[in-house]
Amino acid sequence: MSNVRDRIKAIKQDIRESVGKEKAVIAVSGGIDSSVCALLSNEVIPDQLFSVYIRTGFNLDKEERNLVKLFKKQGIRLKILKREKEYFNELRNIKDSWKRRYTFGVISLKNIKKYAESIGASVLINGVNKNDKEISNIVNSSKQRAKEVKEVLGLKLVEPIADIYKGGVKKIALNIGLKEIINKQHIPGPALVIRISGKITREKLKLLKEINEFTDSQVNEKYWQFFPFLLDERLDNKFLIILRAVTSKDGGFSAEVKYDLKLLNKLAMGILKKYPKVGRVLFDISPKPPVTIEFM
Ligand code: XMP
Repeated sequence: MSNVRDRIKAIKQDIRESVGKEKAVIAVSGGIDSSVCALLSNEVIPDQLFSVYIRTGFNLDKEERNLVKLFKKQGIRLKILKREKEYFNELRNIKDSWKRRYTFGVISLKNIKKYAESIGASVLINGVNKNDKEISNIVNSSKQRAKEVKEVLGLKLVEPIADIYKGGVKKIALNIGLKEIINKQHIPGPALVIRISGKITREKLKLLKEINEFTDSQVNEKYWQFFPFLLDERLDNKFLIILRAVTSKDGGFSAEVKYDLKLLNKLAMGILKKYPKVGRVLFDISPKPPVTIEFM
């Protein structure tokens, strides 16, 4: 534990020195990485820290509710940017998943930039961990990414947990009282944007959100991820829902499919009964590798 405390001390010192006397923005998602960075930053630069959550409309409502509750409890200032319409309108007609991710990222950067300008911030604290870094390094060097962020945003990038693996970040979270979010499922940045095939419509998004809330309410055991995907292949004019349930250390290189037939049966019955627009519920048995966790 003393090792963890030393780490926390070093992170706080790094934040203090890197931010200096400037104002800093941190975009938070409710996930473990950005929450750890926000809490530690708030301990050393409370008056210079501006946390921001973008309501994209693609996250479950409970994520925002829990985040607001946590930040209130911790006494951290939090701005909610309500941008559902903007995200929906920009993304609705994009079918390609990488274009969706890219567009989602561009809209997010634009909003962060605008917000930073509005409060006169010159630093962006980014809660990226070492696993994320290693994965992104395969496709893009992190130096290059930092340069891009600086160029796009004109902000200095501070990444306080970039040399700590997910397991280490969890230990820190536990040490600073973030027990309740340690066991949360991992949620990808673009969230439900990458879990709807075909055009994104309000009907599909609403349905998938409701089904996701329902599955979350029924799954008690620990999974890396357990989620529904809405497939726009109609049978008798009804949607198909595919359930995906995997365990994994960090999602990066491998994930194992986890079967719980009793639970799956209960979920299928529940979904078909509660949501008449769903024609069939399927279960994905594909491990990673060779396929990815997300469908698109
Ligand atoms: P894949 O689908 O590549 O996903 O096996 C591995 C892990 O990363 C998450 N994931 C993302 N996270 N932005 C994110 O922040 C993304 O675009 C993205 N795509 C995948 C995925 O949920 C899984 O945990």
